[in-house]
Amino acid sequence: MTEPGPMPASGRRLVLFGPPGSGKGTQAQLLEARTGQHHLATGDILRAERAQGTALGARVGGYMDRGELVPDEVIIAVMAAHLQGLERTGFIFDGFPRTVAQARALDSMLTAIGRPLDGVVVLEVPMGVLETRLLGRAEAEGRSDDTPETVRKRMRIYQEATAPVLDYYSSRLPIVRIDGDRPVSEVLSAVLAATGGITPRPV
Ligand code: AP5
Repeated sequence: MTEPGPMPASGRRLVLFGPPGSGKGTQAQLLEARTGQHHLATGDILRAERAQGTALGARVGGYMDRGELVPDEVIIAVMAAHLQGLERTGFIFDGFPRTVAQARALDSMLTAIGRPLDGVVVLEVPMGVLETRLLGRAEAEGRSDDTPETVRKRMRIYQEATAPVLDYYSSRLPIVRIDGDRPVSEVLSAVLAATGGITPRPV
């Protein structure tokens, strides 16, 4: 395994961005273990709500199974709750924001707690590789939204609703693009090196 490069400051606040299957969750978990940045993954939060049988889980289940986005107001309320009482100064958002409305809401919430974002890391992976990864995960883990039809829908929704979030951030924050079509350890090294070059914004 390649030894990762420079370690970013644990206090950086990042959005880890990319299409379904690009490795956001994989990399965010590794970054949290290595840097102490808190990993906030909307997909994981919603799946946990479903597993616990909560009202929120019941409300979002259909959207998730169909590969559709959960309505903005629901997701924004969920993330507002998770940002309250956040003790660590550094965090990584994975799967959020996924619409421009969510990005605007996140900016407002982070400004209110005095912890603005420092940058956006985009994992770039060819479409064919993404589909292979997700269909492989379907066989291994049986995630309800990894069927061929639902994967195609998730990709289309990413292009239509989520990719424009990068345009929103382009004039506001540093955006670094990482080739995510490499072994996990190489992607991690590249992310660590790139995020180490992002200057933390004053709080
Ligand atoms: P979410 O869980 O966020 O799904 P996603 O974005 O589609 O993300 P994935 O988990 O599929 O991919 P990933 O990029 O995290 O890759 P991973 O590391 O897992 O959201 C699920 C649903 O919840 C949404 O469809 C929506 O309904 C709802 N939702 C969530 N957030 C929302 C929001 N903000 N607004 C509205 N609705 C929301 O890796 C994928 C696979 O590839 C794994 O098997 C992994 O082992 C493998 N892999 C990873 N990296 C590599 C590598 N470098 N080489 C080879 N294989 C790799």
